[in-house]
Amino acid sequence: MRSKILLACLFAVAGSTLQTAHAEEGATLFLQNCAACHGADALGVEGLAPPLKNESLWRRLGDSASAYIAGIVTGGMSGQLNVGDQEYRDLVMPPQTHLPSEQLATIASYVLQKINGHPVSVSAEQIEAGKIEPPAHKALQALRQKAEDENRTTLAQARN
Ligand code: HEC
Repeated sequence: MRSKILLACLFAVAGSTLQTAHAEEGATLFLQNCAACHGADALGVEGLAPPLKNESLWRRLGDSASAYIAGIVTGGMSGQLNVGDQEYRDLVMPPQTHLPSEQLATIASYVLQKINGHPVSVSAEQIEAGKIEPPAHKALQALRQKAEDENRTTLAQARN
């Protein structure tokens, strides 16, 4: 009995260490691969790239947040993006498909969960699918826009 409890404790400790290791790996990979454009603090760099810390965007996207970010890291992004009253236009993000799918999944989950507190994860399979068939930038923008429109409708309804 005692050894069972001990074993359970050991697993619990190992589990949380693993989770921490995963978050640390995400932080390192983010710094190595995304921070040059998006900033070490993910707050964006004027004239270069928008912020990735944007809690309302990911909240609005809900479960689609994983498809959206998986699509962007595999297909890249271009065209105009609005963040608050800031416009990001004529900027192009190149696909990040030189990175292994596992690593891209770790970074994407890190951006959602650790940077934005959004409880959605991205799997290596989602990244694989994006590598095989990268989504069109217009489709990604439509997804982002839909989340924004729905948010506006909800806000308008809340006001009425
Ligand atoms: C070479 C610069 C560059 C690098 C490196 C880069 N990005 Fe980007 N990223 C951009 C630009 C530029 C945009 C905006 C494109 C546009 O305006 O359509 C963008 C947009 C995004 C968006 C959409 C944000 C929104 O508000 O909808 C996400 C998500 C994203 N990048 C994630 C990442 C992640 C994760 C990494 C690291 C694996 C990364 N990017 C690496 C330049 C970069």
